[in-house]
Amino acid sequence: MKFIIETYGCQMNVADSEMISTIMENSGYELTDTLTDADIIMFNTCSVRQHAEDRVIGRISNEVARKISNKNLVIGVVGCMAQRLGKELGEMNAKIDFVVGVDNYFKLPEIIEELYNKRHFVTSVDMNHKEIYHDIYPIRSNELNAFVTIMRGCNNFCTYCIVPYVRGRERSRSVDEIIKEIKIAGEKGIKEVTLLGQNVNSYSWEGINFPKLLQKVNEVEGISRVRFVTSHPKDISDELIETMASCDKVCEHIHLPVQSGNNEILKVMNRNYTAEHYLDRISKLRSLIPNIAITTDVIAGFPGETEEQFQDTYNLMKEIRYDFAFMFKYSPRTGTKAAEFNNQVEEAVRLERLQRLIGLQTEITHEKYKEQIGQIKEVYVEGPSKKDENEYSGKSRDFKITIFPGDESLVGKLIKVKVKEAVGWTLKGHIVE
Ligand code: 5AD
Ligand code: SF4
Repeated sequence: MKFIIETYGCQMNVADSEMISTIMENSGYELTDTLTDADIIMFNTCSVRQHAEDRVIGRISNEVARKISNKNLVIGVVGCMAQRLGKELGEMNAKIDFVVGVDNYFKLPEIIEELYNKRHFVTSVDMNHKEIYHDIYPIRSNELNAFVTIMRGCNNFCTYCIVPYVRGRERSRSVDEIIKEIKIAGEKGIKEVTLLGQNVNSYSWEGINFPKLLQKVNEVEGISRVRFVTSHPKDISDELIETMASCDKVCEHIHLPVQSGNNEILKVMNRNYTAEHYLDRISKLRSLIPNIAITTDVIAGFPGETEEQFQDTYNLMKEIRYDFAFMFKYSPRTGTKAAEFNNQVEEAVRLERLQRLIGLQTEITHEKYKEQIGQIKEVYVEGPSKKDENEYSGKSRDFKITIFPGDESLVGKLIKVKVKEAVGWTLKGHIVE
């Protein structure tokens, strides 16, 4: 029996899909990448904004139509939306066969088998507050980069965010399991590892904190690059910055979501830092790690945000000059505190502010990328570029897509590229080594 997983949302979902594939294959199911071959279609979903949910609902409606010609097709929803909506999903679309939440992936083979025996809708969304996924060393959907979950869940309860409700409380994986997983990746020839968690800085296992874990990961043979997401500005310690600077494999890039540049808004968001603290962390990062790329997440139009408060965000982005930013308009999530606030900003205003941020950041990104011209970058070659098959593409240590004339034999190698031009969010150059 063949299954396929369509993954939405963050890298945690990508890693979870790989873990689900392992659980399924261990029970005799076969992974396919062709929808029409699949007997089981799973959607691994995201709930962080309404738009993400709407897109998946649309996709599910398209796929359930296949059931007319294939009576045995099983369709399921997993991930954050499954956790958030549970059996409501079955009420929204009666053709969905199962809904399995983030802590119950071990039960998937059993649930699917049960479905084949007697057709009835199954929901399994109870939550666990301990790490339950032990001894699974995932089948990689990607042979070049290993996404390794180091912790799950979040205790921060930012008032706009659904994650703590759907992903539960923070829990860390053991150092041994993490290192073992990375060693397996290194032995397979994977050179880049990304450590994942909703807040990696909260990692803690038997006295080992996140900087100490980074040091251990830095020593794993075969691995050449180490990245991590996501960091919380309140938890970026000097120890972490110093460790990033001293570990040669830790890449010169940090994703540090700021969300807002205004202290009152940050307070109502429950972010637990000020713009001044954030700027202090940025200057420490830049002084110890010259040329570090800094990226962020920002929300426009959080409830109560005035034009002046919005300007603080705009000005902060102008001052910091991020390499790249993910910018969102605030999306109320049922169950979160901010969704209950009675001072919601009008949709049109949220959108207009978002567009101003995008305008500003696009300009900054272009300028920053132009500054790279003439530099020699180390690039980890990933494959042919999407636009031109004679060009190959990879990422620099500071997370910039770089393309150059090349061939298949370079895939998986670390090469040096001299940058000739910057086109949008891409660097173009030629190999010098
Ligand atoms: N509305 C808009 N953006 C949100 N994010 C999280 N929750 C919301 C929401 N309700 C954004 C934050 C976070 C990123 C993953 O998604 O910027 O860092
Ligand atoms: Fe959501 Fe805040 Fe936790 Fe990030 S730190 S997952 S934004 S609650």
